[in-house]
Amino acid sequence: MTTFAAAPKGHFLFGHAREMNRDTLGFLLNTLELGDLVQIKYGPFPLYIVNHPDLLHEVLVTHHEHYQKSDTTKRDLYPVVGEGLFTSEGELWKRQRKLAQPAFHTKRIAGYAEIMVNYTQRLIDEWQNDTVIDVEGSMAKLTMQIISKSVFDAEVTGTDALSHAVTYVLETTDRRFNRIVSLPSWIPTTENRSFDTHLKHLNQVIQHFIDERRRTGEDKGDLLSMFLMAQDDQNSSMSDKQLRDEAMTVFGAGHETTAATLTWVWYLLSKHPEIAAKLHEELSTALGGKTPTFNDLPNLKYTEMVIKEAMRLYPPAWGASRNLMVDTTLGGHALKRGNVLLLNFYGVHRHPKFWDQPDRFIPERFSPENEGKIHKYAYLPFGGGPRICIGNAFAMMEARLILATIAQRFTLHLAPEETVLPSRRFTLRPKDGLKMTAVARETVFA
Ligand code: HEM
Repeated sequence: MTTFAAAPKGHFLFGHAREMNRDTLGFLLNTLELGDLVQIKYGPFPLYIVNHPDLLHEVLVTHHEHYQKSDTTKRDLYPVVGEGLFTSEGELWKRQRKLAQPAFHTKRIAGYAEIMVNYTQRLIDEWQNDTVIDVEGSMAKLTMQIISKSVFDAEVTGTDALSHAVTYVLETTDRRFNRIVSLPSWIPTTENRSFDTHLKHLNQVIQHFIDERRRTGEDKGDLLSMFLMAQDDQNSSMSDKQLRDEAMTVFGAGHETTAATLTWVWYLLSKHPEIAAKLHEELSTALGGKTPTFNDLPNLKYTEMVIKEAMRLYPPAWGASRNLMVDTTLGGHALKRGNVLLLNFYGVHRHPKFWDQPDRFIPERFSPENEGKIHKYAYLPFGGGPRICIGNAFAMMEARLILATIAQRFTLHLAPEETVLPSRRFTLRPKDGLKMTAVARETVFA
């Protein structure tokens, strides 16, 4: 039996919105003590925080058809990703998911392993021993290069016009997403005008990629080619607008999240040298200094456990929101059509009822013997049910290959006085970035 509670009364006008925006993660953790389903007020509106794995299962799986992505998610994302997989609903989403699925099949994405490793090597070839690295920035640049190559077969440097436009558009979307009240995008503020200019540039570049590909008919083996070739049961394919939206969605969803994961992995490894030592041991046994490939992945089990545990403590997607489309019940508690729910992934990942020593970094939780004991819906870094992240295998492969490639050559150290706090933006990232010192591993062992 799950419990329901209303949070103690908040501010007469803002409800709990200010408190929640000031320290969202702390707020979400505090609601765990109140109940499994907690009603708060976001401004004048009720917001239901879902804190129990069984209820998450009910929303994401059993009665998923009662829910849609929330209006705020759509409002903020629509200008960028249009009706791509992340934001679309109903028949359009179903058709697109079916069309896109083969492109994310393990066999298909195996072909990206080499791209992932090559870009990683290029990155660390630039690193000098004993120098300070902007870890968050480096991971973001690296995953952007990988996703650009994988989606569009395009080479970006991280500092070119395309990278700049993508970064600007995504960061502005992130800022908008975090405001309690946003001015409508048609009001010509400096930010809105600049956003429009960058988005226009981005759209032109993507349209050029689509035009070129249609003109040559070439299969470049990337996701754009897969999307272009995809046909549904009625033999119809995607329009240019749909192609653009899907490409932009994958581009947007597919790099910052993985970059955030890796950033937290480096942070946690520096705080737990004994775990870093175990990781290095696995790498030397499995790889013996050679470049990892797709075929090495089954032997990188501990590497995978480290990444999974980092995503438990710091899930890049710290929550997801849903609008209720019908009057119904959740865990036996009555809810009304139009109610908004926040799926508290961050909180549930640290819920003391479901995790022993929830705040400690213990990769062994995900060992082959232990992983089966975890309540399936207490761990949702990729969401769940039909709308589970389509790129999860891609992301896990990318994170393992990047970690294995870098950790063989460098150890990253955090200055002892450095404190790193998580900040809830669209993804969960270190509040003030993450700078660390890269030490070449030969030097470590010398
Ligand atoms: C560690 C990296 C990643 C994390 C933590 C992550 C997390 C998530 C989560 C939680 C959702 C579900 C959101 C919801 O239910 O509201 C989602 C959906 C999605 N993700 Fe990811 N993601 C990651 C990487 C990727 C990558 C690499 C791609 C593409 C290459 C991708 C593409 C998508 C798409 C298209 C959706 C929407 C799927 C649908 O609704 O059918 N993601 N992701």
